[in-house]
Amino acid sequence: MKVTSVNELEAIRSEILAGKDLDKPCIAVCGGPGCLANQCLEVRDAFVNEIAAKGLTDKVDVRTTGCHGFCECGPIALIYPQEIFYQGLSIDDIPEIIEETIINNKTVDRLLYTDDKAGQLVETEGEVPFYKKQMRLILGNNSKIDPHSIEDYIAIGGYSALAKVLGGMQPMDVVDEIKNSGIRGRGGGGFPTGRKWESTRNAQGDIKYVICNADEGDPGAFMDRSILEGNPHSVLEGMIIGAYAIGSNEGYVYVRNEYPLALKNINLAIKQAREAGLLGDNILGSGFNFDLKVNRGGGAFVCGESTALMASLEGKPGEPRAKYIHTSDKGLWDRPSSLNNVETWANIPLIINNGADWYSAIGTESSKGTKVFSLVGKINNTGLVEVPMGMTLREIIFDIGGGIPDGKAFKAVQTGGPSGGCIPESLIDLPVDYDRLTEVGSMMGSGGMIVMDEDTCMVDVARYFINFLMEESCGKCVPCREGLLRMGEILTDITEGRGRMEDLDLIQDLSEVLKDASLCGLGQTAPNPVMSTLKYFRDEYEAHIKDHKCPAGVCTELITYNIDAGNCTGCGLCLKKCPAEAITGETKQPHVLDTGKCIKCGICYDVCKFDAVRKE
Ligand SMILES: Cc1cc2nc3c(=O)[nH]c(=O)nc-3n(C[C@H](O)[C@H](O)[C@H](O)COP(=O)(O)O)c2cc1C
Ligand code: SF4
Ligand code: SF4
Ligand code: FES
Repeated sequence: MKVTSVNELEAIRSEILAGKDLDKPCIAVCGGPGCLANQCLEVRDAFVNEIAAKGLTDKVDVRTTGCHGFCECGPIALIYPQEIFYQGLSIDDIPEIIEETIINNKTVDRLLYTDDKAGQLVETEGEVPFYKKQMRLILGNNSKIDPHSIEDYIAIGGYSALAKVLGGMQPMDVVDEIKNSGIRGRGGGGFPTGRKWESTRNAQGDIKYVICNADEGDPGAFMDRSILEGNPHSVLEGMIIGAYAIGSNEGYVYVRNEYPLALKNINLAIKQAREAGLLGDNILGSGFNFDLKVNRGGGAFVCGESTALMASLEGKPGEPRAKYIHTSDKGLWDRPSSLNNVETWANIPLIINNGADWYSAIGTESSKGTKVFSLVGKINNTGLVEVPMGMTLREIIFDIGGGIPDGKAFKAVQTGGPSGGCIPESLIDLPVDYDRLTEVGSMMGSGGMIVMDEDTCMVDVARYFINFLMEESCGKCVPCREGLLRMGEILTDITEGRGRMEDLDLIQDLSEVLKDASLCGLGQTAPNPVMSTLKYFRDEYEAHIKDHKCPAGVCTELITYNIDAGNCTGCGLCLKKCPAEAITGETKQPHVLDTGKCIKCGICYDVCKFDAVRKE
């Protein structure tokens, strides 16, 4: 397929659509990372084989897609055209689905989702509570396309934004549209995208670059990965439009090395786009030239920082530099460069197609559009969630996320990746946007959301994130290198019972220094986990220091195990399982735990069925 003009693209789209029977059943099997771990490819193969065995190969399509978002329920399949949502599939379920749903047009009730609150089964994806409140502008197309098929992307309207731009918009019109939309970067800092493009466009230099930051180093986050894996052409289309607006003819996609499928899919998409005349010389016959290269990430969290990423692209160590000269003036190879996040690029075609007014009507005053979050931790519905900016934490965690498992209490949510902050239960009605998150001591970051329940120790959480950042610090500047090391030591002392009250002032002072004196965002935002937990959970720090107690029962050095003779039935299970021979007792007699021998492994606490083992 070679498209040589804007009009021809529309003709090709009509041709592709004419060749598609929209009533033909299609089984869209999620091939995203969560479902892959649950053998979704075997499920997909079982569909293909069963369809062949029934002689239906020409009558039913099977499509392998990117992540549908509700990873908790994988493997997932959507049956089009009804959009029946089947979850938790195994290969044994497939013959029944083909027989009942495809041949007899009935649902297989045991594979449907049960809405526990309403106490009923739900048939279609749109009725599942997890999806109901979402606005899936970016992720929604994942289930509608095979990411390996440019035809699928074109069929759903793909590259029409590019055609609109090249068919009649001046570069500055495009910049203005993006500025007016109000979109802010989805990679962390929330800088207005249109302003960044404008600066790069106005910067001096014949050669300019556009760069896609697909490094996604935040532990537990997989938004960018899912977009690149599930809908790579949407990112490419955004980048080509951006390049035209800025006046760039060369671009780079910097992909985290641990994302082989994302690398494969973006490379294939680039090849297809080139063959189709959507990348390369004279795109769509417009005279505009632009091409892209893919680079694999350097494997360090700090390589996601814009200047470190550019250094890494140049083949140098991925270390940040001071930004008193902006990368829009001197970025990659000292040339004007505009670097944006994967999700930011994927938003661009939407804005061009629907207009700045449409886009800016979604979200809040200062934060427009939707945001994709990866919802993980102590939450019933883990997965990827896309909501309009301004939705409250309560709606995200309870209405969409289904609340906290095992009837436990919600304690806090950590947003913004390792250098984000912990937001307590008292702020659960906070509307989520860039500024509101910053106001309460956290940040949007790239959209990680880690939910914590009553069993989480907030001092331990702060220690974990500070240690992560300490290991990831590039070490170039002293406040970050030494400050994080010292903060890590202090937090370890507190969690191990050696803390002093003065440490809390010291850690506060260190936080201020890191914020003010670090060279890059890693050091500047690193104090957030400590500052926010100190602000909202100071009593836990004090309990560790003054009482030598960990209220959540997490910090091993500060807890002791005992057996409550009143509850102990003498079943002997703890005695059998204890690796330290610390428990003694006769059958049917209360057992005794020798705290001197106990190594605090917690096995007795976990195995006791009579609530007799106490953790204090
Ligand atoms: C330590 C550090 C790591 C970062 N990692 C990423 C990342 O993995 N992906 C990303 O898009 N932005 C990351 N950022 C933010 C980028 O520096 C940059 O602001 C962003 O990619 C710009 O794109 P945007 O304007 O579309 O948000 C990181 C920043 C810092 C300080
Ligand atoms: S703040 Fe930390 S990560 Fe950033 S340049 Fe300094 S040492 Fe490196
Ligand atoms: S915590 Fe571990 S070592 Fe201690 S008594 Fe229980 S099982 Fe034994
Ligand atoms: S990986 Fe299948 S729903 Fe996310």
